[in-house]
Amino acid sequence: MKNIVILISGTGSNMAAIVRCAERDRWSAKYAARVACVISNKSNARGLLFAKEHGIATEVLDHTAFDTRDAFDAALAAIIDRYDTPDSPALVVLAGFMRILTPGFTAKYAGRLTNIHPSLLPAFPGLHTHQRAIEAGCKFAGVTVHLVTAELDHGPILAQAVVPVLVDDTPERLAERVLAQEHQIYPRAVAGLLQQMGH
Ligand code: GAR
Repeated sequence: MKNIVILISGTGSNMAAIVRCAERDRWSAKYAARVACVISNKSNARGLLFAKEHGIATEVLDHTAFDTRDAFDAALAAIIDRYDTPDSPALVVLAGFMRILTPGFTAKYAGRLTNIHPSLLPAFPGLHTHQRAIEAGCKFAGVTVHLVTAELDHGPILAQAVVPVLVDDTPERLAERVLAQEHQIYPRAVAGLLQQMGH
């Protein structure tokens, strides 16, 4: 069985969309894959409750308890590796996980570490993407699912969805419409990777 480990920091609506899709489309039968664990760096992340309700193991790893990024990432990898076997490496899915990862961590999971970012990368890496898209006068915004590399919000693009920026749009309204698209494309992109991985 291939394990999917999802990392969150907050609401976890993308994680929930992936879990619902895995249940609905029976990923366990189709790809021999399951969402095995949800890890949050914040103990009050709402998504942890959803995961528990769906019978998924949860872990909290508080980044403030670590002196360095290297120490935090090593502890994170130790949890992930419980779900990893040489025969069946885990798929690691960042879903609103708001931590910058070290090059050692991204290299360790290269090719099986995904992220979702609320912009049409390579435009607007980093924070406040919707506000920046509106301020730049963009007519279209959107979302990108990509494989994670050492460089923040870069890496091979797996999927994108485009959302028009409306006259008088606010960052909040645009974010809401983009998020609806996120919930469509992230589960599909993860399923695509599972299929590619031959499971
Ligand atoms: C999503 O919009 C995701 O694209 C964004 O955080 C939100 C998390 O929502 N991620 C980033 O900004 C990463 N750079 P969720 O917790 O409800 O999935």
